[in-house]
Amino acid sequence: MVKRADVVIIGSGVAALQLARKLRKDLKVIILTKSTLHNGNSYMAQGGVAAALSSVDDPKKHYKDTLEAGRYHNNVDAVARMTKEAPALIQGLFLEGCDFDTDEKGELKLGMEGAHSEKRIVHGGGDATGKVIVEFLAGRLHHTDIIEHITVFELMIENNQCIGARGKYRDGRIEDFYAEHVVLATGGLGQLYSFTSSVETVSGDGIALAYRAGAEITDMEFIQFHPTLLFKEGLEAAGLVSEAVRGEGAKLVTEDGRKIMDGVHPLKDLAPRHLVSQTIYDYMKNGQKVYLDITSISNFQQRFPTVTALCREHHVDLSLGKIPVVPGCHFLMGGVKSDHCGRTNINGLYAIGEVACSGIHGANRLASNSLLEGLYIGEKLAAWLNDTPVFSTDDNPLTPQRKLYFVPPLPIPDSHQLSQMMMDCAGIVRSEKGLTKLKKWLEGFQVESWMENDLEQLSTDDIQEVFKLITAWLVTQSALARTESRGGHFRVDFPEENETWLGNQIIHKRKVVKGERDEQIKASSAASAVFS
Ligand code: SIN
Repeated sequence: MVKRADVVIIGSGVAALQLARKLRKDLKVIILTKSTLHNGNSYMAQGGVAAALSSVDDPKKHYKDTLEAGRYHNNVDAVARMTKEAPALIQGLFLEGCDFDTDEKGELKLGMEGAHSEKRIVHGGGDATGKVIVEFLAGRLHHTDIIEHITVFELMIENNQCIGARGKYRDGRIEDFYAEHVVLATGGLGQLYSFTSSVETVSGDGIALAYRAGAEITDMEFIQFHPTLLFKEGLEAAGLVSEAVRGEGAKLVTEDGRKIMDGVHPLKDLAPRHLVSQTIYDYMKNGQKVYLDITSISNFQQRFPTVTALCREHHVDLSLGKIPVVPGCHFLMGGVKSDHCGRTNINGLYAIGEVACSGIHGANRLASNSLLEGLYIGEKLAAWLNDTPVFSTDDNPLTPQRKLYFVPPLPIPDSHQLSQMMMDCAGIVRSEKGLTKLKKWLEGFQVESWMENDLEQLSTDDIQEVFKLITAWLVTQSALARTESRGGHFRVDFPEENETWLGNQIIHKRKVVKGERDEQIKASSAASAVFS
């Protein structure tokens, strides 16, 4: 079956919905989502949206905090524009009726989070901000078809132009979607790791799709590990315990009550996330359990209904005043290299939200900047597309040509083993030894052959595993190449930031000619570097 649209959006989080609702009404828009609108990472987001809204705050302070957290690896222009426009963007949503939390005067209530120098976090429903925003945006879509439970497995490219996407339903049906503009909004790669705050569908799909198609992928070594996921029975991570809990005064402690962040950083429990995660990791490596002591927070259950429900579901008794925690994969700063409105190096292919690397987050994202970035870039891309002449979908001249290659029966890694290997070797603490072992293991699955193969014959579950394999391989190569520590990338064998790496990006790009070896290219920009 074949469908045509002006804009096809793959993914259904905040960036996708903001784009769809801001597009011109005469454009035919289709959203393709692997699950449902109400089951994505955006919907589950507990944290808020950052904007310099208070009288003592200033976008310049937000800008400075974003660069400091990002360890100056950020695209400074993009950060300056976003932080400047954030107050009007959030106020605008509020005035349109988005149900953000307010104070007794009816004004936006502003909270604190790690590495922010001012109170500037806007929440909805206490700790249900993602749900509030997704429901608000989804309720305002008019000219958009939403197709759920479809896995996109191939981008169709003709002469460096993306002309559509191919998807597979769980029952095996295949559908082709042709469009002038194809937007990746598939989120990050949380499920590559055994401990993660991400929902099950977040498995690096957009990155693998884009890389196979010839797009540039960058900064894959920069992955944020959130310090506090609920640690269920000392075995598995069971969901996020928002940083806002520490923003309200909770402290990280050992079993016997010792505060572990004292003396580590002046901001203590609200230090940048990578430092907090690394500190917890060290304690756990030494056999100690770490908890969030919440005894100083009054009205915990009213303030944090989502965390309370999570704890109840997993039989954590909040009356004891402490929540067992473990750090886990939370956010990918890298992704498909994109500009200030989501354009990539392939015409007609765009990337927005977590799948994209717009450079805003640098080497480590500042808390509550991701919903903001999704809203901001979604709006920017809509503005750009609204000004771009579009062919009528009926006379779309693009021909549905496909290049298919024979699929030999290649091995696919076991999902559990892959996520454990990633956590151990490309996780919070990395080394040449671990990364080399991981790279060899991944290459044992003929990862390069997976770049050429048509995935049509695979089940949707196996397609997801192949995407994880490709994405894991990109992370591993980048982490191995970057011989310094910066933000979300910590190398125990190169534990310091190294000035010579400042401003350098590791960019992966394939030659998309069948039979030629993949390569990692030198970026043309002087500020980037090449690694292979
Ligand atoms: C959190 O609530 O801790 C997550 C917020 C974020 O990552 O921005």
